[in-house]
Amino acid sequence: MEKQELIRMLNKDLADEHAAIIRYLVHSYLEGEDTPLGAKLLSRSREEMWHMHWLGMIIGALGSEPVMVPAAYPFDPANRKTIFRSYVAYEEKLIPHYQSEAEKVEDPHIKRVLLREAWESAVHAEKFQKMHDKLAPADAEGLPGEDNELPAPFVETLQRLVEAKYNQMLQSLRDAWVLQKDGLAAWRIMDFSYTKMKQLAHMAEEVAENGFEPRLAAGGMIQHADIGKALQSALEGVQQTRSQHQAIKDDPEAEKHGGLMTNLTLAINQETYESEEIEDWLKK
Ligand SMILES: [Fe+2]
Ligand SMILES: [Fe+2]
Repeated sequence: MEKQELIRMLNKDLADEHAAIIRYLVHSYLEGEDTPLGAKLLSRSREEMWHMHWLGMIIGALGSEPVMVPAAYPFDPANRKTIFRSYVAYEEKLIPHYQSEAEKVEDPHIKRVLLREAWESAVHAEKFQKMHDKLAPADAEGLPGEDNELPAPFVETLQRLVEAKYNQMLQSLRDAWVLQKDGLAAWRIMDFSYTKMKQLAHMAEEVAENGFEPRLAAGGMIQHADIGKALQSALEGVQQTRSQHQAIKDDPEAEKHGGLMTNLTLAINQETYESEEIEDWLKK
């Protein structure tokens, strides 16, 4: 297969895996990640993160730019029964899709990745089918999501931080994949992306617990070709979200939510740590 065609194919898969991550993650948060349904959805979402990551690493190794905007995830939102049925259909379609792609590529690693994505999609379809079949009648007819208890401006502030942190996390993944030849420096960026995912989760869960879909809207990535520039802009990003975390912490509304306050303090400390680390690397 010609290289450009291969990259187009892998980027399309990357966008589909990204879509699956977001769908299962948002659904998990709406259920509550400590509920049986929420915990299972979160587990599926994490496996989709591996899938996305392997594809991103391959695209970066090929010297290409990964597409960081998720594709659409089609599902019937009428009730839980129809939602899970859509998930089964989505995963089942991926099995022959990845198998036929694997047949077209020569590279043994890429072939194995595509085949693994095929058989893990089969496992996902099976697990979603079980979740569908086991739904209690009241759950089957219902939809995930709780009533809102937060003032609208506060929700908006949280949503802006969700959006900023999501894009910052995507930028870290993009930089780590594309600049992987820089070795240790790229690995450090990847390491920080894990903390960003956790910080993002804390804010997104708060939003979803109040019945809103977290604002996971991917914007344009900066296509850094140089690790120094990538680190400099990572530093600016983390300083910006640290002020956003601080502003939420200073809001009297936040004080009413003990768990949120703990996570805000944690995020601010982590972002201070990250800034100091990057500043040190930039000096060297
Ligand atoms: Fe997947
Ligand atoms: Fe899957």
